[in-house]
Amino acid sequence: MQVIRQLVEIRAKVASLQAEGKRIALVPTMGYLHDGHLSLLREARGRADILIMSLFVNPTQFAPGEDLDLYPRDEEGDLAKAKSCGVDIVFCPDATELYPDNFQTSISLKKLAAPMCGESRPIHFAGVATVVTKLFNLCQPQVAVFGQKDAQQLAILKQLVIDLNFDIEIIGCPIVREEDGLAMSSRNVRLSPSERKQARSLLEAFSAPTRDSTAASETRKP
Ligand code: PAF
Repeated sequence: MQVIRQLVEIRAKVASLQAEGKRIALVPTMGYLHDGHLSLLREARGRADILIMSLFVNPTQFAPGEDLDLYPRDEEGDLAKAKSCGVDIVFCPDATELYPDNFQTSISLKKLAAPMCGESRPIHFAGVATVVTKLFNLCQPQVAVFGQKDAQQLAILKQLVIDLNFDIEIIGCPIVREEDGLAMSSRNVRLSPSERKQARSLLEAFSAPTRDSTAASETRKP
């Protein structure tokens, strides 16, 4: 497994893979890998000759005051996990090279990015769309794999490849859950016991039978 940090190096590597006719899969991550990420890597592994995983905590998707500095990181552990899933190349760009001083472009989606998470995190999805566009340009994948946990992000990225004419298949993989039902997330380590309980209660609320479905099953009873 090769670890590439410089843009000039990933470009050269991708160009030589393309010259050999290799099909490339990309799994973009912000690291601190858990079993959810590993399921994305395994899915992508089966879909291409070369599997690239990017490992980059993207500053532009965090607003000032959000948890950029506190976001959990463990590069050594991530590299070991990536290797165990058959990753060929881990691309770990440097923020100063990806976003040099005069950087000024932002990709934003008018409708899909505004509601739900976009209401409380108004710049988040533009940061995601911008960095993923840059990763697509640098890694030139035929297929890219993301989690269904971030459903709004997945919808946005599916729209982005249509809008920007990327010839990339976007695959969404099912949510992987902790034993207590909480969706796996790198940020779960930052939850206090009471926050974790609150987060689980959302799943319980969504899984609870609705009054309509209860009424329907009552009427079906003999
Ligand atoms: O889902 C994530 O981990 C991030 O939003 C992504 C897609 C890697 C972009 O930074």
